[in-house]
Amino acid sequence: MLDYARYDRIRPIRREGDTLELLDQRRLPAEVDYVVCHSADDVAAAIAQLVVRGAPAIGIAAAWGLVLGARDIEAGTGAEAAALMDPMFQRLTAARPTAVNLAWALARMRRALEAAGEDWRYVLEREAAAIADEDLVANRRMGELGAALIEPGSGVLTHCNTGSLATSGFGTALGVIRAGVAMGRIERVFAGETRPWLQGARLTVWELLQDGIPATLIADSAGAHLMKSGSVQWVIIGADRICANGDTANKIGSYQLAIAARHHGVKFMVVAPSSTVDMATPDGSAIEIELRTGEELLGYGGARTVAEGVEAWNPVFDVTPAELIDAIVTEAGVIERPTPERMAAVFGR
Ligand code: MRU
Repeated sequence: MLDYARYDRIRPIRREGDTLELLDQRRLPAEVDYVVCHSADDVAAAIAQLVVRGAPAIGIAAAWGLVLGARDIEAGTGAEAAALMDPMFQRLTAARPTAVNLAWALARMRRALEAAGEDWRYVLEREAAAIADEDLVANRRMGELGAALIEPGSGVLTHCNTGSLATSGFGTALGVIRAGVAMGRIERVFAGETRPWLQGARLTVWELLQDGIPATLIADSAGAHLMKSGSVQWVIIGADRICANGDTANKIGSYQLAIAARHHGVKFMVVAPSSTVDMATPDGSAIEIELRTGEELLGYGGARTVAEGVEAWNPVFDVTPAELIDAIVTEAGVIERPTPERMAAVFGR
């Protein structure tokens, strides 16, 4: 049994009294500061601005956003409250398009609310807490399942931030890395910087440092060269949406890592809870890829670094085709070499 307290100390989402406190991930690691949300709209804005980010974390934050929003609603039953809260549901759903966990958490909250009687406020609060708690349990399970696939003495490369900061705690891909290090299976951890928002450089290596896990930062463009050197045996990433055929949307740059991994005989693992699995989307071509402002590419830290007049294209996710994935690790089981049939065997049709 892993000493989870030793390996998992950061909490990005805190429920405090009548508010929700979100660790401001725009400012890490320079400042460790929480943004205080008082309403569902505050939470929707925080999700859109990446105060809170990472697929599971935005679903959890949105669920708590509804709990905050419910304070302004007068209703006798859950169904009445759900109708009155519809605009909140819409605004939270629209905050970011690609990670299905957001829509999943909101749909789950709506189902619970619509079935509730006069105790609907309590039901809403209980459901949000359950979504958060179940995510932590899933991450710990995935950590064990994923680490078991890794040969002792391996090196791994990860991308973006998939740790406690992106989840309820422990993390998805980073949970596998934490478990793999603790079990002596992983000896070397590399993290890509993840331009332009620098989730890897600002968040992942900082998070691992808190745990005393040494990690080496690389430029995103160094991935293939690293694989060629023989230092890594697995690329391990999280996911924002996994389709019915196993195609996986994740942070921009994941796809090119998967291509390079296959070329170099490095294995490619996707780690995500079942709340990230979207069996209603047949394949990656149907996923909406979030386009963010080119400003994120044209400057850094508020200062422009690119000549005026230059335009930038800034898709922040890409889709890795299922055939480039060696294993999808979920709390419900491991799907090796995913196909529609293998996905359906675990998740139904
Ligand atoms: O834009 P972000 O930072 O929200 O993107 C996050 C990712 O792409 C993560 O890899 C993914 O959400 C999995 S997090 C457990």
